[in-house]
Amino acid sequence: MFPKTIGDNGHYYRFVWLRFSIFRAETEMPVEDKIKRLHGMQAEALLGGGAERIASQHKKGKLTARERVHLLMDEGTFEEIGQLVVHRSTDFGMEKQQFYGDGVVTGYGKVNGRLVYVYAQDFTVFGGSLSETHAEKICRIMDLAMQNGAPVIGLNDSGGARIQEGVNSLGGYADLFYRNTLASGVIPQISAIMGPCAGGAVYSPAITDFILMVERTSYMFVTGPNVVKTVTHEEVSSEDLGGAVTHGSKSGVSHFTAANGLDCIQKIKRLLSYIPQNCEEESPVYPYTMGDELRPALDRIMPENPNHPYDIREVITEVADVDSFFEVHETYAENIVVGFARVAGKSIGIVANQPAVLAGVLDIEASRKAARFVRFCDCFNIPLVVFEDVPGFLPGTDQEWRGIITNGAKLLFAFSEATVPRITVITRKAYGGAYDVMNSKHIGADMNFAWPSAEIAVMGPKGAAEIIFKKEIEDAADRDAKLQEKIDEYTETFANPYRAAFRGFVDEVIKPSETRIRIIRSLDMLKNKVAVLPRKKHGNIPL
Ligand code: HXC
Repeated sequence: MFPKTIGDNGHYYRFVWLRFSIFRAETEMPVEDKIKRLHGMQAEALLGGGAERIASQHKKGKLTARERVHLLMDEGTFEEIGQLVVHRSTDFGMEKQQFYGDGVVTGYGKVNGRLVYVYAQDFTVFGGSLSETHAEKICRIMDLAMQNGAPVIGLNDSGGARIQEGVNSLGGYADLFYRNTLASGVIPQISAIMGPCAGGAVYSPAITDFILMVERTSYMFVTGPNVVKTVTHEEVSSEDLGGAVTHGSKSGVSHFTAANGLDCIQKIKRLLSYIPQNCEEESPVYPYTMGDELRPALDRIMPENPNHPYDIREVITEVADVDSFFEVHETYAENIVVGFARVAGKSIGIVANQPAVLAGVLDIEASRKAARFVRFCDCFNIPLVVFEDVPGFLPGTDQEWRGIITNGAKLLFAFSEATVPRITVITRKAYGGAYDVMNSKHIGADMNFAWPSAEIAVMGPKGAAEIIFKKEIEDAADRDAKLQEKIDEYTETFANPYRAAFRGFVDEVIKPSETRIRIIRSLDMLKNKVAVLPRKKHGNIPL
């Protein structure tokens, strides 16, 4: 490469003279030689930090940035932008260390025939660290994505801020964060963490819609194990502090966990198949021919004892098109299940209480998880289908002191503000405030169904009987018999779907086997729904 020595003035003039001589020599070059020169530069660019560093990347079980991009894009569709960009830094002898592309491969191409923009950090060049020019390349991709209304996919593998560049690098990060924020809700933004992602660098993925992490080779943290040890005296490995399993199950920072780089790329492609290009468009529709849409298995799914669990995923897979359910946050806050699916070829977002985990109770984590998912679906015109079997909010000091009030309100707010078609199916319990929160008719749901097994009341029959008939039970000769009598009375009165159906809070009580066809028809009926929110700058969701 040509050295760029722009130090003192003497150096500068020598540099200008040198470039001029090269220019003159080049203008006199035959065109084949000019092309040869270009090919040489391109070949050098393709090698990133060089063969040795590529081998080291492979040894760690990681793919290179270019390998990742080529796996992601439909064959032959990737167009690179800024392949020959080099950094402008001259401190610490940096002018002598230049690599074409400056540690990030950027461009656009097609995934399953649809346009996407991509940036892939190249760990073989300064550890994929972010310089001013590296940031400029990513910003350019984001600007193009915004102007042209297509998703941005970031493949992150970086040692963070380019240490030699100081504040120039920090400014580059901020330029990126700002664009992530402006793009939020306009175009889908997906971040795959395929290596290190530490310090302030974590905040770009955090603003984007979905984070995928690769097991064992990726980690994310604001401060690493050494700082943690100094400040809190905790000994923790990178993997335990911020690996894929940690963020997929403990913090919920990551939405998808991938076994390896290839699995990660495949998950990105699958995710893209459910979502539209931008907030003005609809998701892709898959070909589907209507047939027998009844699902008799659903009539046998509900246990006779209302306190026995069942797996709500079984309901979801019966209702959704075959193999179309794609769960998000699979191992985080498992008492609520969220994810994408298709019914009759069309994308939906599913939110479902999970009676098999903590009886499907709503707690802080479940509320936040579901609220974020509802917001995504509403941003991108994906109808919501809710399966409700919830005994209420989780009681206890831990929940109250950590703010179940504010966090539960997030889900309430997210549903209330959502203008996409919204359908609820109450399969069993719909108790207390959780009845209101889980996409009730009162907060704007369009179609509310209930199975005959539904129980819609302020609380469970036993708790209710113990409170409202307390004196009568205490005075009875046989307290247990009296309690049972009162439980039966309350069950008969409220623990069924009919009070709600009489009031129109539930539109129809349906046989479970009819659930899929009812949802298909409702979504078809609601496909041109227009709902207008009051004019405002923006709401103030209880963050
Ligand atoms: C410049 C860097 C770099 C960085 C790594 N390299 N990180 N160069 N700036 N931030 C270079 C190394 O010098 C080395 O160059 C090559 O990348 C590979 O690094 P290794 O250390 O050999 O790799 P490995 O052992 O795998 O360790 C990876 C690593 C480690 C854990 C990421 O490199 C590391 O700790 N780097 C520093 C991380 C850091 O503190 N970053 C700043 C965070 S603060 P050669 O030439 O040998 O190949 C931050 C603030 C952002 O990011 C704020 C935004 C608001």
